[in-house]
Amino acid sequence: MLSTVKQVVTEHEHQPSRLLEILRCLQTSTNYLAEETIIQVAKELDVPISQVYGVATFYSMYSTKPRGKYVIRFCESAPCHIEGAAEVLAAIQGILGVDVDETTDNGKFSLELTSCLGVCGVAPAMMINSTVYGNLTPKKVQEVLMTLE
Ligand code: FES
Repeated sequence: MLSTVKQVVTEHEHQPSRLLEILRCLQTSTNYLAEETIIQVAKELDVPISQVYGVATFYSMYSTKPRGKYVIRFCESAPCHIEGAAEVLAAIQGILGVDVDETTDNGKFSLELTSCLGVCGVAPAMMINSTVYGNLTPKKVQEVLMTLE
């Protein structure tokens, strides 16, 4: 992982102003940012560890704890709520057997809440890794989850 950090930071010209992008790249393969990754990024950028850690923990798109292969970000904002998000979220929890901010025992899915995904026209909505799913119903989420290996 350390050589990967060095490579990614080098690709971003060791620019602290590109920290968000650097962390996004590093999180792609593991779905989270390990402590050693954060420390190495700080070293490579020559900035305080607290600065990198602060960014990694401030934005909901980053995680500093291990997550599943598929990260489900379920929209909890008002337009989705009005369109029945609570029922859909309950269905996901029932199917996966996890609560919000938990990962399935097999390490396949992590369930998180997020604010508006910007697709309110197809509320309720969720994002799994980088794919957005809208017009969700309990039946539709079951179908979506079954297709993911
Ligand atoms: S409120 Fe859910 S996508 Fe906008």
